[in-house]
Amino acid sequence: MYVNTKDILEKASKEYYAVPAFNINNMEFFHAILEGAIEKRAPLIIETSEGAIKYAGNGDIHKGAKYFVELVRLFADSVDIPIALHLDHGKHFEYIIAAIKAGYSSVMIDASEEPFEENMKKTKEIVKIAHAAGVSVEAELGQLAGIEDNVSAAENVLVDPEQAKIFVEETGVDFLAPAIGTSHGAFKFKGEAKLDFERLQKVKKLTGIPLVLHGASSVLPEYVKLAEEYGADLGGAKGVPEEELKKCVQFGINKVNTDTDLRIAFIAGMRKFLKENPKEFDPRHYLGAGKKLVKEVVMNRLEFLGCAGKA
Ligand code: G3H
Ligand code: 13P
Ligand code: NA
Ligand code: ZN
Repeated sequence: MYVNTKDILEKASKEYYAVPAFNINNMEFFHAILEGAIEKRAPLIIETSEGAIKYAGNGDIHKGAKYFVELVRLFADSVDIPIALHLDHGKHFEYIIAAIKAGYSSVMIDASEEPFEENMKKTKEIVKIAHAAGVSVEAELGQLAGIEDNVSAAENVLVDPEQAKIFVEETGVDFLAPAIGTSHGAFKFKGEAKLDFERLQKVKKLTGIPLVLHGASSVLPEYVKLAEEYGADLGGAKGVPEEELKKCVQFGINKVNTDTDLRIAFIAGMRKFLKENPKEFDPRHYLGAGKKLVKEVVMNRLEFLGCAGKA
């Protein structure tokens, strides 16, 4: 069934497990994720970036937002696991409004690059509009950046727990993404992964709401290796190891944003298939090969983040 993201995340927060939020751009990734969640009996959050919405609408953001709501609802309504659709990194008012109007379950207002007061003001405004439509809201504090190089510079970009408390109280936001040292994409750390768990624990204690980890892909070496074996160049790729993610969950993370891991699995599967089947040109077959590996990654995440069997 199609649900409000809040229903999924408040249960996760109470019971100290996390639900991955998987980014999609197209049908194949959605099918892979859906199959994995059904098999694992897990609650599911699908998310789309502004870029994904524009892409799906072939340039028309209202059509793009509607496309994803229709796609997700069509399948969600006929299965008995809870499924939510979330707008990831809403930076422009028009995308946030398009998502709310189309029927998204939740939206993220990402004004984290702006001064604290401005971030608070914008978030408050979106919360008012979204809540009136029964849509829940995620906001972000601090900026995504690796912290291994220069700790003192990083201090200013990581979340300030005292500010987080004020922010949550003032804005009435439903979920918060605290920056604790991760970054987006396939190249997160030069050396060891370093996350600020102490800061995370403080934010959880002071806010008490569901927390979100962005830039949470693990960049699994086996899939990177497979992709490279078939021609990809991903030298230096590094993510957040699964053990570190488990610690994040223990310390209060409930939504684990995952895009890069799916992209790498998909390209590995597709490259291998195309190389091994040079006579093939049916898109269902080469996209299907990518889909198969995406599903593997999805099922693994649902398991180790603790949400398998929770639906
Ligand atoms: O956080 C960003 C997501 O990974 C999606 O990014 O669709 O803008 O490439 P994109
Ligand atoms: P990754 O690039 O680590 O998959 O992060 C995705 C994300 O944070 C989407 O909001
Ligand atoms: Na998000
Ligand atoms: Zn993100």
